[in-house]
Amino acid sequence: MKIKEAEYLISSALVSQCPRPDKPEYAFIGRSNVGKSSLINMICNKEGLAKTSQTPGKTQLINHFLINKTWYLVDLPGYGFAKVSRTEREKFEKMINNYLFERENLINTFVLVDIRHSPQMIDLEFMEKLGTNGVPFSIIFTKADKLSKLQVGNHINDYTQKMLESWETMPTFFVSSASSALGKEEITEYIQSLHPLFKV
Ligand code: GTP
Ligand code: MG
Repeated sequence: MKIKEAEYLISSALVSQCPRPDKPEYAFIGRSNVGKSSLINMICNKEGLAKTSQTPGKTQLINHFLINKTWYLVDLPGYGFAKVSRTEREKFEKMINNYLFERENLINTFVLVDIRHSPQMIDLEFMEKLGTNGVPFSIIFTKADKLSKLQVGNHINDYTQKMLESWETMPTFFVSSASSALGKEEITEYIQSLHPLFKV
């Protein structure tokens, strides 16, 4: 599938403010600064579509983008951002949970993980929570340009080992880089494969 058109629609604090759930939807989630907004821009070939920043905590609302006029991509606030108050953090967590558990047209959630780091509890627990609540997800490893091919392979092996301690199989995963566009085709093809309505 080629993304020909990507348009920003709305930023919402509540699920009830999101666009009508009448199109298939895919969400990007992960720790603050992992590269969610950058990846959305890369996939959509549109620099500046989703706001990015070197400072964690840039995305603070549920952002909807309409793709090819037929489906939605959603940029979510990051979790685990240390530099906000506990009340603020709990507010974000509640917003994200409500969205993930209640959004009826959500087909798949992509959990972004920085390829450079060893498996982090916060990500593992987040995926456990998705599993427990029956929210389908896949993993996208980000920032692959920051490691050598060999290191990428090693880190994926380590991550797979860790996941297999609590999961029967390793979830579907992708390796990406917003700066080199690595992973773009694989991710868009996968999105298409999950929903039969899209035309190629
Ligand atoms: P929040 O909205 O704050 O949760 O962050 P985010 O996950 O949306 O991250 P964002 O896309 O804003 O990127 C954070 C920083 O990482 C920016 O400085 C990006 O330029 C950088 N970055 C994101 N993806 C990549 C990548 O694939 N490679 C490299 N080298 N840098 C990246
Ligand atoms: Mg962001």
